[in-house]
Amino acid sequence: PIDVFKPVSFDDDDDVIEPGKIKVTIFFGTQTGTAEGFAKALAEEVKARYEKAVVKVLDLDDYAADDDQYEEKLKKETLSIFMLATYGDGEPTDNAARFYKWFTEEHERGAWLQHLTYAVFGLGNRQYEHFNKIAKVVDEKLDEQGAKRLVQVGLGDDDQCIEDDFTAWRESLWPELDQVLRDEDDVNTVATPYTAAVPEYRVVIHDLTITSEEDKHLIMANGNANGNANGHAVFDIHHPCRANVAARKELHKPESDRSCIHLEFDISGTGLIYETGDHVGVYAENCDETVEEVGTLLGQPLDLLLSLHTDKEDGTSQGSSLPPPFPGPCTLRVALARYADLLTPPKKAALVALAAHASEPSEADKLKHLSSPEGKNEYSKWIVASQRSLLEVMAEFPSAKPPLGVFFAAVSPRLQPRYYSISSSPRFAPSKIHVTCALVYGPSPTGRIHKGVCSTWMKNAIPLEKSHDCSWAPIFVRTSNFKLPTDPSIPIVMVGPGTGLAPFRGFLQERLALKEDGAQLGPAVLFFGCRNRKMDFIYEDELNNFVEQGALSELVIAFSREGEQKEYVQHKMMEKAAEVWSLISSGGYLYVCGDAKGMARDVHRTLHTIVQEQEKVDSTKAEASVKKLQMDGRYLRDVW
Ligand code: 2AM
Repeated sequence: PIDVFKPVSFDDDDDVIEPGKIKVTIFFGTQTGTAEGFAKALAEEVKARYEKAVVKVLDLDDYAADDDQYEEKLKKETLSIFMLATYGDGEPTDNAARFYKWFTEEHERGAWLQHLTYAVFGLGNRQYEHFNKIAKVVDEKLDEQGAKRLVQVGLGDDDQCIEDDFTAWRESLWPELDQVLRDEDDVNTVATPYTAAVPEYRVVIHDLTITSEEDKHLIMANGNANGNANGHAVFDIHHPCRANVAARKELHKPESDRSCIHLEFDISGTGLIYETGDHVGVYAENCDETVEEVGTLLGQPLDLLLSLHTDKEDGTSQGSSLPPPFPGPCTLRVALARYADLLTPPKKAALVALAAHASEPSEADKLKHLSSPEGKNEYSKWIVASQRSLLEVMAEFPSAKPPLGVFFAAVSPRLQPRYYSISSSPRFAPSKIHVTCALVYGPSPTGRIHKGVCSTWMKNAIPLEKSHDCSWAPIFVRTSNFKLPTDPSIPIVMVGPGTGLAPFRGFLQERLALKEDGAQLGPAVLFFGCRNRKMDFIYEDELNNFVEQGALSELVIAFSREGEQKEYVQHKMMEKAAEVWSLISSGGYLYVCGDAKGMARDVHRTLHTIVQEQEKVDSTKAEASVKKLQMDGRYLRDVW
């Protein structure tokens, strides 16, 4: 695997706490790194404020190897702070999933956590139905199990400025922590104000003209492909697998002014495996244009060979900062393309770091203002609502040229993998992972053309079909519970407009393969939606073929921009309410895939109405039926 992202090691908990000191454990459940960043920032401040505190920051997955160990270790904690993100359909992050399942499942432990004092901060988005569900549930369960709540659960909202929510919550935490962590003599004195230092890596520039042949080889291998060789048994977010792009094609018809890409990754011989309904995580690269602009703004040549280090020159540790985003030396071009998030609006902490390195005082002042509490409204207007990218902000403050060690540690977040619902079945395509990806391309409020990093990369990818020097990406599979019933004779109803069709293409490939193996298939209805059959009716021939071959009993399509009125999948479901409900209520499964904020929410409401009308029950009873379907795992959603 490309083991460049994180060394995995379980926490060795046996640190002896000196008498008079108190252990503070800060746990994080992170998906894109924000919770992790907050956890680390909080740890720094706790360390700076309280001499008594022995602070540890821990990934929930690395904390314990199994459930018993969670129990055993939590028994020994005295003061714990949880930074927990919620994502997708109210789910925990991958690294918190195991802990969450164990901690929230029904058990008879009683008030076993009475020795524990805790605080929880959640990271979520109010636009979604299950706003901060994970943080709320963990907070409640900790309380139920006897732990003492230090402050109210913090509900960070990423739709606004989550950093402000975090700051506000942190302010509420100090007076409470003072009671626990400050010495009696100084409880009544005012704590020294704390200003976080701008984190920084130590940068080493490598000069190839004076490097030994052996080192040169290493450096070049790293620059090319992270020096990775595949063939490892486990691939995950930290150890992705290098996969070539085998094929790529446009799915929209020529009349369409948008684009949707069908892409196939070749996984033959890699050891990477997947199941129908799983997700694939893809580490894409920023396009050349973006990389070159940032190189110019930083005032650095792109062929500079550099490596980043967390230790000091003399080899001693600097302590706290995140591991560097890339392992060994690589060129600045590669570093910016693969590891730097350049197009997301910058966080306030990034503006602080830029301000510290702006040579023009007026620019420094404006950047400081934007990141300050007084500049709150301007930040939300000028950065958040305008969707100003980091690149745009840097272009507006050209005198801010942070050194590379600061840029990678404090200005640009690490480029995150993008997730896609796999659109193939391994029964049909065992050596390929298919992806169906809508191109993100369009004007932002400032008039810049925003190009999505991964979809743009996919659109420009060179497939093996075309060239032996084809594109490749580090990828990994994330398992999901979006699975066909084990018994293929059970009826299924699938709802997936646009690229929400992706997993259902996999389902239908699987059903076709099952049928060819002699299985008896139950009925399957697919509700698909798109704008216009002449433009964005993706996989049209394949879908018709699934009907002809008997893998799909009925294909129902809502064309939203053909007639006078918008027609959506949920309207078609209403028209066929009796049929839909008879399939589901006879033991069938309902699957919904696609946009969470609009479509999935509306389909959910429609389902509720269908139950109410078909069962002739009131709203409360209908809601209970829908809940039951969900609890039984017969109403599954793969939404984003
Ligand atoms: P529209 O763009 O014409 O509004 C795939 O994106 C399809 O889903 C399109 O036909 C799109 O229609 C439709 N769509 C947009 N919002 C929707 C919603 N809230 N519910 C169902 N379908 C929706």
